[in-house]
Amino acid sequence: MRLPGLIDPHVHVREPGATHKEDWATATAAALAGGFTAILAMPNTQPPVTTVEVLEKTLALARQKARCDYAQHLGGTGRFGAREAALAPRVAGLKLYLSRTFGPLWLARTEVWHGPFHLWPRETPLVVHAERVTLAAALFFARLYDRPIHVAHVAYREEILLIRGAKERGWPVTCEVTPHHLFLSQEDVPRIGEGRAEVRPSLGTAQDREALWQNLEVIDVFATDHAPHTLTEKDGLQPPPGYPGLETALPLFLTAVREGRLSMEDVVRRMHHRVRALWRLPQQPETWVEVAPEASWEIPEQGWHTRANWTPFAGWRVYGRVRRVVLRGKEVYRDGQVLAPPGYGRSLRG
Ligand code: NCD
Ligand code: ZN
Repeated sequence: MRLPGLIDPHVHVREPGATHKEDWATATAAALAGGFTAILAMPNTQPPVTTVEVLEKTLALARQKARCDYAQHLGGTGRFGAREAALAPRVAGLKLYLSRTFGPLWLARTEVWHGPFHLWPRETPLVVHAERVTLAAALFFARLYDRPIHVAHVAYREEILLIRGAKERGWPVTCEVTPHHLFLSQEDVPRIGEGRAEVRPSLGTAQDREALWQNLEVIDVFATDHAPHTLTEKDGLQPPPGYPGLETALPLFLTAVREGRLSMEDVVRRMHHRVRALWRLPQQPETWVEVAPEASWEIPEQGWHTRANWTPFAGWRVYGRVRRVVLRGKEVYRDGQVLAPPGYGRSLRG
């Protein structure tokens, strides 16, 4: 079966600054192995991508090392102004950390939200990490400045209900949900292990998970929130939050299709068409993914392309395997082997 090249709008590449976790070459190898031909990178690197200097340095690294196509998100800080807003044409979008997570980019007080909500161009995505009651505050700001927002990794019943309500009133709100919030809950923590299960937003209850499935039509896109940390870090005293996700997302969704919980069209719309439309990405010519939907396999502990080399889904039986990926006319992945060299990837923002 042939699918269009998948696009993941939420990937933590970790370069610059934390290449022991992942870098542009390994993140994009994991992407291709998972059937993604383009990724949109998050800005909570070290240093974070909040200035033109760090943006240019990060894009130079991507140009040298990326194996699939890419664009980089800018991160908003408390000193956001016209200079930052002028970077919009060169980035995927603006990411605002309104809730606290990994990295230094937390905008704790609403008084620093006005700048980005007011100045960021309406045609370039403004992506918010806003959990629970903070999501209500973010929706208020979107109304205050009469602008669209995209809500990252919706995880809880109360959040999907807020978004449903906003959409029913015609507000220009879109959202993404991760595979781990659709397939895991707090009940999985003992099996995964406390430290490894750490993630932002934290895993919800089984009721939260089911509320996401019941509101599938409210979910615009699927995003992995691929957030690689090493097992030494995850099993240490202060486990950082996040899971690798690029290599397991498609098999999990194809398994849900097989079980009748999703249609193929539900998957392709949320992992390609709608992502491309929301971020206004160019079409990738001569690009597709060949999957064997009936191939059954058990998700292994290790042996992944991501440098993090672990998964919270180890031991799960899934159906559907990526056999071959063609990107811009070239075979870039085949049966476990990533064939695209570092530098083959192209910027999607010109
Ligand atoms: C992300 C990370 O590790 O950078 N962690 C996570 O648990 N999702 C940060 C984030 O997306 O919130
Ligand atoms: Zn993230």
